[in-house]
Amino acid sequence: MKPDDHVCLCFRVSQRKLVNWMKREQPAVPSRMSECLGAGTGCQWCVPFLKKLHAQWSAGEEPGLTVSPEQYARRRTVYRRRGDQTQT
Ligand code: FES
Repeated sequence: MKPDDHVCLCFRVSQRKLVNWMKREQPAVPSRMSECLGAGTGCQWCVPFLKKLHAQWSAGEEPGLTVSPEQYARRRTVYRRRGDQTQT
């Protein structure tokens, strides 16, 4: 992913916004990532990725996801289809 690719697809929150928010707000726990424009509070697909970014930042690494945006979006589509199936 590039910095301007969206990590939270529901709320269109980019990796850059999330990283800058962590650097500014210094969140102690990953659950606070939702305070960045509601990231993770929709379908919740991105929650594991928000946790990964937070873990990288907490470890002193430059946060970043290696998955391509296309693959990421495809995997979310599958995730959401499965969710739809469990609701019927
Ligand atoms: S992709 Fe982030 S809540 Fe749906």
